[in-house]
This record gives sequence, structure tokens and C-alpha cells, in this order.
Amino acid sequence: MKIDEVASTTKKARVATHTHIKGLGLNEKGAAVAQAAGWVGQESAREASGVVVDMIKEKKMAGRALLFTGAPGTGKTALALGIAQELGTKVPFCPMVGSEVYSHEVKKTEVLMENFRRAIGLRIKENKEVYEGEIVEMTPEETESTSGGYGKVITSVVVGLKTVKGTKQLKLDPSIYDAMQKEKVKLGDVIYLEANSGSVKRVGRCDAYASEFDLEAEEYVPLPKGDVHKRKEIVQDVTLHDLDAANARPQGGSDIISMMSQIMKPKKTEITEKLRREINNVVNRYIDSGIAELVPGVLFIDEVHMLDQECFTFLNKALESQLAPIVIFATNRGVCPVKGSDGMVAPHGIPVDLLDRLLIVRTIPYTSEENVRILAVRADVEEIEMDEASLARLGEVGDETTLRHAAQLMTPAAVIAQQSGREEISIADLEECQRLFFDPKKSAKLLQEQADKFITY
Ligand SMILES: Nc1ncnc2c1ncn2[C@@H]1O[C@H](COP(=O)(O)OP(=O)(O)OP(=O)(O)O)[C@@H](O)[C@H]1O
Ligand SMILES: [Mg+2]
Repeated sequence: MKIDEVASTTKKARVATHTHIKGLGLNEKGAAVAQAAGWVGQESAREASGVVVDMIKEKKMAGRALLFTGAPGTGKTALALGIAQELGTKVPFCPMVGSEVYSHEVKKTEVLMENFRRAIGLRIKENKEVYEGEIVEMTPEETESTSGGYGKVITSVVVGLKTVKGTKQLKLDPSIYDAMQKEKVKLGDVIYLEANSGSVKRVGRCDAYASEFDLEAEEYVPLPKGDVHKRKEIVQDVTLHDLDAANARPQGGSDIISMMSQIMKPKKTEITEKLRREINNVVNRYIDSGIAELVPGVLFIDEVHMLDQECFTFLNKALESQLAPIVIFATNRGVCPVKGSDGMVAPHGIPVDLLDRLLIVRTIPYTSEENVRILAVRADVEEIEMDEASLARLGEVGDETTLRHAAQLMTPAAVIAQQSGREEISIADLEECQRLFFDPKKSAKLLQEQADKFITY
């Protein structure tokens, strides 16, 4: 058996619809660069999003809302994603689709409430007693299992931690050893242990090892200064939902059935309104005393026209609350009925009183030239080769249907090209593709023409 030539089985990154979007592509002055960060055109909407990003960073936007409107495939979802990327990982961003609120198990407003709280971050700074250093020793101590059999159990683990000042040996509980293995710490890593809770946090790899390999996705940190045992300011980023979930107790009474169901479904917890109120109180106290800082993040509700009257009423109220995130909506609907109302018609399917609170950003349809450039970016990301002529043809398809449909045709066309032994997509492949797959408009037209052949009721 040959081993040295076996190819790696790690999958290539999946190409999702928005992988080419890498931010908003703005310059320092906030103006949109014509083609940057995966973006082509749509300048004003990108600039508007940039202003929103600044407002969020300066915390001037909490409790406000933004609405992206525009025709299908004009980049509304992509804009929200760009905003998330510009905000970075320190600001919570919670994306959802309107229809997610419809579930048999959970109330609609409960789904919204949970996502609201996922979008509100809390940065907690605490001065904690810790042991910090580079691991220079990690020896589990085993004894024969007392419960019989041949197994051995780990009774304790000796860990040596080194700092610039010295080294200290700690004898730790096996549960901490488990936690260390979960964090995948090994010799040469810098970690800290919280003295009270015993929780382990891996800081990174000690930079003494930095030159081992050139190419590595590893964070190198210097050998800690000071003593191993010390007080350290620890910054923790959590969302309100994290706090809710961590403090919720499994529901149920003390009878045997509910005890059983607790064991079977250990994760099933109930977050009650009362619990949330209590958490809010604690959070407010933390904020007042300066231990914690509120980081209002973004709740993104795509396809907002899928929400109904009840949800909109909830949103109206929730936006007013003290702990509110920034809410960004997106929709491609024009004037249409509001779901769950008795036939009330409103712009974008959103009741006027909510609409009144929103800043609205419009995305405009693309010219065929822009279509071609966007499709070229996509082809590049998907590693699909196309000649100029077929790219132009695909741009036209985008004009006739939507940009999304045109982009979708690329992959099947590439498969068809491959079947005939070519790497590059030609116009013939596209035509074959269009013969095989219908776009929504063509399909609707066919339905009309052959209405009598279909079952309609
Ligand atoms: N200006 C642009 N530059 C680069 N890529 C774009 C641009 N606009 C849209 N796209 C890409 O085109 C595709 C469709 O865009 P997107 O899904 O954001 O549309 P949408 O406005 O959300 O449509 P819908 O209303 O149907 O949800 C995505 O792959 C998106 O990344
Ligand atoms: Mg969308």
C-alpha cells in the first residue's frame, strides 16, 4: 500500500452565495470604491450601510431600525452581510429569516425575543484570581480503578506553569484535566486557570515556538510576565441570550416522567419572562457599577414581509425597550397585504406605524454591464471558466430574469461543458442549460398558456 501519495480528503471550502462579499468596500472617507470587497456598483446603498456601521460602532443606533428594499437579487442580503463583516467579531450579529418565527413548538414572539437577546452583547470585565503561564509539564496521575476491572482512573493532574519570573507546579482535579483536553491544550501553550471556578482558557501558543512552521493558523502570545498566581483583568464577551441560557434550569416537576424527560433531553430548558427580567436587573446593575459594558449588536431580519401583525406589534414595543439592538430588515415586496391582519395593505407588507420608525435604504437594479462584472466575480469565486461572449450572454440572462438566476446557471453550465470535455463554458452550454432549466418568468408564462392542463384547485 502506498501512503505517501494519498491525497488529502479535506473538503474544499463550500462556495455559498455570498462568499465573495468581504465587507462594504468603502474608502476612509466612507465613499464606495466602484469595485471592491467583492462589490460591483450599488454605491449609495453601500455608503448608507457604511454610515450605519459607524453609528453602530459609536453606539448611536441602538433601538433604531433600518430597512433595505429593492428588487430580488439586488444585493440586500449581501449588504447585511457586509455590515456584519465591517462590524467584526466583537459586535454580535444575529441573522434570521422572517419565516423562522413559525414553529409548532415555540411562540412567534418568543423566537423574536430570543433573537433580540442574541443581538445584544455584554462585555464583562472582571478582576479575577488566576494561574497563568506556559505549560511546561502535564502529567496525569493514575490509580487502579476502585470499581474493579482493569481500567485506570485519573485522580489528579500535575501541571507546571512557567512565566518570565518563575515556574509553579499545580495539582489539579481531573475535571480540570478534562476541560484542558476539550480546549486541546498541549505543552508549550499559554493558558490561564481561574482559581475560583477552575475553568481553563487557552490564550495561544507560546511565541518561543513561532519559528517552527511558516504556515500556520495559530495565535502566538508572549510568555506571561509576573507571577504565575496573580490577579488579572478578564474580558468576556457574552450575549444576553447566553446569560439566559446559562441560567435557565431544566423545566418539569419531580414526578418520574418529567425526571425521565429531563434525562433524555438534557438541553431542553425554559427561559421564562421572569428569568429575563432578573437577568436584566443584574445586567443593569453591572452596567451601573462599571463592571460591564453594553454592546448593542445587530438583529438582521431578512424577508421581513413574512412576519405577521402580532410580530410587528411586538417589534414596535421591543424597539422601545432599554436593552434593544439595532434591527435591520430586508424585503423585496412592494405594496402588499400585512400577514395576519384583516386585509390591511401597506408598503412592503409592513404596518405603517413600524415603517415610520425605519430608515430606508433602496437597492437599485443593475445595468447589464454591472451584471456581467458581478457574474465575473462569482465565476472567479466558484472557479468556473467562461469566455467573454458567454459572460456577456449570461449578463443578458440576468437582465431578462434576475441576477440570482443568471448566477445559478453557471454551475450547471460548467457541468455541461465538462460533459463535452471542455473546461471553459461556451454559449452553446448556456443555451443547453436554458433549454433544460426554466426561469420563473418562463415557467409562469407556460403555466398561463397551458392552464387547462394543470390541476389548480
Ligand atoms: N453589487 C453586487 N456586487 C457583487 N455581488 C452582488 C451584488 N449584488 C448582489 N450580489 C450577489 O448577487 C446574489 C443575489 O444578491 P442577494 O441575495 O443579496 O439579493 P437580495 O436583494 O437579498 O434578493 P432577494 O430580495 O431575492 O432576497 C448574491 O450572491 C449576492 O452576493
Ligand atoms: Mg435576500
